[in-house]
Amino acid sequence: MEVLRVVVTSSLLVSSVLRVGGATIRRQDESWFKNGISPFPLDIQVEQYVQFKERTNYLYNKADTETSRRSNLPIPEDFSKALYTIDIRQNDLVVALRNMNDEQFRAEIPDIVNKFSVAVQISPRARAFWIHNTGPIGRLPLATVNIQNPKPGYLNEHGCIKGWNAATVEFNKQLKDAVTQLRAELPQAALTYVDMYTAKYRLINAAKNQAERLKLPYLSAYLDSVGTNFQQGANFATAGATIRQQDESWFKNGISPFPLDIQVEQYVQFKARTNYLYNKANTQRSNLPIPEDFSKALYTIDIGQNDLVVGFRIMNDERFRAEIPDIVNKFSAAVQQLYQEGARAFWIHNTGPIGCLPLATVNIQNPKPGYLDEHGCIKGWNAAAVEFNKQLKDAVTQLRADLPQAALTYVDMYAAKYRLINETKNQGFLDPFNICCGHYGNGVSVGCGIKANINGAEVFGGSCEDPSTVISWDGVHYSEAANFWIANQILNGSFSDPPNPITQAYFKHV
Ligand SMILES: *[C@@H]1O[C@H](CO)[C@@H](O)[C@H](O)[C@H]1NC(C)=O
Ligand SMILES: *[C@@H]1O[C@H](CO)[C@@H](O)[C@H](O)[C@H]1NC(C)=O
Repeated sequence: MEVLRVVVTSSLLVSSVLRVGGATIRRQDESWFKNGISPFPLDIQVEQYVQFKERTNYLYNKADTETSRRSNLPIPEDFSKALYTIDIRQNDLVVALRNMNDEQFRAEIPDIVNKFSVAVQISPRARAFWIHNTGPIGRLPLATVNIQNPKPGYLNEHGCIKGWNAATVEFNKQLKDAVTQLRAELPQAALTYVDMYTAKYRLINAAKNQAERLKLPYLSAYLDSVGTNFQQGANFATAGATIRQQDESWFKNGISPFPLDIQVEQYVQFKARTNYLYNKANTQRSNLPIPEDFSKALYTIDIGQNDLVVGFRIMNDERFRAEIPDIVNKFSAAVQQLYQEGARAFWIHNTGPIGCLPLATVNIQNPKPGYLDEHGCIKGWNAAAVEFNKQLKDAVTQLRADLPQAALTYVDMYAAKYRLINETKNQGFLDPFNICCGHYGNGVSVGCGIKANINGAEVFGGSCEDPSTVISWDGVHYSEAANFWIANQILNGSFSDPPNPITQAYFKHV
């Protein structure tokens, strides 16, 4: 709960205080209306934050505990527990590059970076900072859209403006130095510097077209009670979810109380309620999904790994293999039920190389010969995943025959993820068994975002310095950067059966 509350608070801060279109670090003598430069540069946003915090304190202390009014306010103590995410600077570069030449701009960088440091220093009671550096602005479509017949060498091989990117790299270098300096000056602050430049550049470098073509927002979680928007879809996933109902506890074993059949139930209820409200509503319709869209939507299913986890924990290999047909049958039943409800297009991920998850291998010492494969993954676990996938693929083939109007795409996530592990270094990542968030090994086990007491000392399972180079976020889940890489691999259909890009997954291919 502690972790959850902090997360909620931080997103409130981020969205209500720090996020403004066109905002700069320095005050600019430019117009919002002419050049799109925000009247709320960073120092004003810090002022807004200070006012927001004071007002929260005041109202919180004034509010009666008996009423529900307090429950709408952030908790004053959370201000020093929240994560302060700062992603600003790109617009300073945009302004500078519009108004001055490269050399003049470089001379300005120290002043911009200084103003950034001042903002961090004066934010009262803020302790944890998550600081994005600036992305490769030379590739912003608006920067390059009007360029015709560029001089040789003006653009790089990806069509990015070279000089702009070089200026950005210099800016990021000085920003990183400033963060190092802030660490020394603010002993109680935890400052994470995030290399967005590399993460974004890698995306451009990889398969930008596929990702950009989707143009979909992140989906709201079905279980989120506030601030949701389901117009583009809904996310029924929950952490630790299984295909089969498990007689296991969420609290003891981390197994979700929402297995696949319950998620399908939630979907059925969600759809019925949407229909009902849509037909009843007149003007407020625009906040609801459109009932017809339910059968035009793409139904993405990625589940099964936790059934393997439970299997490995409570039975031996042979007994678990005997259970796979039942697990796969339950999966097919869920797809059939969705089909009865009108679902037509399915994008089905098989399960990944579970034996390569760092948390599975972190405590293995002196393994028997043959227990691990050439990369250090647990062979038997991966073999079970491969067997599961084989049966899943057969089930999808069967579903194609049983559900004549369905378009079912089977995606070999196992192969995509295994390729990443096999080619880790070539793809710009470090050791595939590194865990970014949390502390493990040598008898220590502190989960991501958890505080623990180790030999009398409080240890916090925080994030690594540069998540963009790590494959595993928390030992089980892939990092954002790795998921990006995987998404770029699979979206164009190169791991799919049939081998079509996701944009064509809506059509039945005959
Ligand atoms: C799909 O995208 C990946 C990643 O960019 C690329 O390596 C691969 O060649 C592409 N495959 C096809 C069939 O376009
Ligand atoms: C792993 O990488 C090596 C070297 O690039 C390649 O020869 C091999 O086929 C790859 N194996 C898999 C399973 O991708």
